[in-house]
Amino acid sequence: MSRNFTEENATQEVLARYDDCPDPRLKEVSQAIVKHLHALIREIEPTTQEWMQAIEFLTRTGQKCDDVRQEFILLSDVLGVSTLVDAINNRKPPEATESTVLGPFHMVESPPLPNGADVAQHGTGEPLVVTGQVVSVDGTPLVGAKVDIWQANEEGFYDVQKPGELPDLNLRGLFTTEDDGRYWFRSITPSYYPIPTDGPVGEFVTASGRHPNRPAHIHFIGMAEGHEPVVTHLFVEGDPWIESDVVFGVKETLVRDFDLMDDPAKAAEYGVSNPFRHVHNVITLAPV
Ligand code: BEZ
Ligand code: FE
Repeated sequence: MSRNFTEENATQEVLARYDDCPDPRLKEVSQAIVKHLHALIREIEPTTQEWMQAIEFLTRTGQKCDDVRQEFILLSDVLGVSTLVDAINNRKPPEATESTVLGPFHMVESPPLPNGADVAQHGTGEPLVVTGQVVSVDGTPLVGAKVDIWQANEEGFYDVQKPGELPDLNLRGLFTTEDDGRYWFRSITPSYYPIPTDGPVGEFVTASGRHPNRPAHIHFIGMAEGHEPVVTHLFVEGDPWIESDVVFGVKETLVRDFDLMDDPAKAAEYGVSNPFRHVHNVITLAPV
């Protein structure tokens, strides 16, 4: 305790105020926040006006949030914090499929569909066939596993971003693996897209000289009994933003060639027009 709070003793004085916190985790977190926040302030020495600007930015970030918009998660995303939290919480054996951010567009439940279903209801885009398998880390196929997918269309829009224009549940599906743990579906090749730029986080990204784009991807959640679920993506090799994803979600193991196929017989077999693209995605789950 002190009645003389100075620039020199400020950090020690504030830290000491949390010494008697009855909840050990709250104490640890509070003291770490104080320690790092004070170090930040000592490093950047903001003017009073700059500090008010920071408070105003956080205020506007909160005000932008509603039922379908979470601007604070977006802030965590563009600072790489979401990816770091995800990595820390998903340490898995090296054979297991790597996880990445969930993102904000899994806001509706994907419709259960039979294997081979076409998830693209909007009628445009380059045909894509996705084949795959769900296996355990020792290679055992997992029959009856669930594969939940959602993606943007060829213009980079999710169904929920264009209600009334894009069909409900467009480019979403929940598949169940069959013999050999296999699943497959028809879709269209997704495009890259920008994160929402009409809020304070978008302004911050632009003011920082960064672009707002995520490279083209399909979201996957793989789930099977007795196994840890994985929330992940499949990224399209060759995408212009693959090296600089605005939310730092890319991992080398998740980038795949979406092969261009010119094979009328195969196209007929899959029930798509020729030419089409094909990607194979094995999801490897770690046992609980
Ligand atoms: C997404 O992939 O859907 C996403 C992830 C983080 C921020 C914005 C979008
Ligand atoms: Fe996405």
